[in-house]
Amino acid sequence: MFDSLTGRHDISLRPAGAFWFPDRSHLHFSKVTALQKADTIRLRKGGRPIAALTAYDYPTARLLDECGVDILLVGDSLGMVVLGFPDTTHVTLDHMLHHVAAVARAKPRALIIGDLPIHTYETPGQALETARRLVAAGAEAVKLEGGSRQAEKVRAITAAGIPVMGHLGMLPQRVLEEGGYRKKGKTHEQTEALREGALALIDAGVFAIVFESIIAETARQLSASLSVPTIGIGCGHHTCDGEVAVITDLLGSYPWFVPPFAKPEADVAGITRAAVARYVSQVQGS
Ligand code: KIV
Repeated sequence: MFDSLTGRHDISLRPAGAFWFPDRSHLHFSKVTALQKADTIRLRKGGRPIAALTAYDYPTARLLDECGVDILLVGDSLGMVVLGFPDTTHVTLDHMLHHVAAVARAKPRALIIGDLPIHTYETPGQALETARRLVAAGAEAVKLEGGSRQAEKVRAITAAGIPVMGHLGMLPQRVLEEGGYRKKGKTHEQTEALREGALALIDAGVFAIVFESIIAETARQLSASLSVPTIGIGCGHHTCDGEVAVITDLLGSYPWFVPPFAKPEADVAGITRAAVARYVSQVQGS
C-alpha cells in the first residue's frame, strides 16, 4: 500500500494502532521530513515514553521498525558489538557512513539517528561537515557526546536544519581519559554540571538528550526539570522520558560483554550456537 504521507509503500509493516501523526488533516506535505520526525519525538516530552534501540544493518532496522520502535540509533557502539574493537574510540566516519546507509535502506518510519564518531566534531565547522555526510548517507538526525563545550557545534548543525540529539552522563568516547565506565550524577557538583550541560544543549537546539549511566534519582530529577525528552540507558527504568538499549544487549547476541544494567529478552547467542552445532554435525555426518 502506498502512503502519501511518507511516500513509502511498506506501511502494512507498521503494527495496527501504532502511533504516527494521529491527525493528518492539517498536513500539507507529502513526505515526513527529518525535522518533523525529530519534532514528533521532542513533543513526546512527558507523554508516551520513547522506545529507542540501536541498529547497524538493514534486516535489524526493518525488524525493529516493524515492531514500532521510535528511534533507530546507529550508535558508535557499532565499534564494539559489530566491528570487534574494545571501545568506541576506534570508530571512524567511514564505518558510520557504511552502517547508516544500510539502516537507511530499510526506509524505516522510526527516526534514524547517526552518531558523530570521535575526532569528527572538534570544531563547529567540522561538526557540521560530519553531520552533513551522515545525512547524505541516510541519517535523519545526529547525536554527539558532551554538554556545554558542544553547544556551538550543536548550534552550527541545527542552524543547517539537521536535528541533533545530545548525550550526557557517561560518555563512551571519553572512556580512556576516564579510565572506565563510571556512574554519573552521584554528587551535587556532578548533578549541577549535568544540568548546566543539558541547558546549554537545549539552548543550542537539541530535540532530545541521551542520559547514560546517571544514578536513577538524579536522572529522574533532571528529566523532570528539562524541556526536552531524556532517553536513558543504565539510569534505571522509568526515570527518563524514554529508554535506549543496544540491540545486542536486548537480544543476547553479544555474550562476551553484557553491561550490568542490560536486561536480555532473548538468547540469540545460544540459539545461534545450537543451530550452527546442528548444521556442523549434519554436514560432517556425526
Ligand atoms: O553508541 C551507542 O549505542 C550509544 C547508546 C549507548 C546511547 O550512544
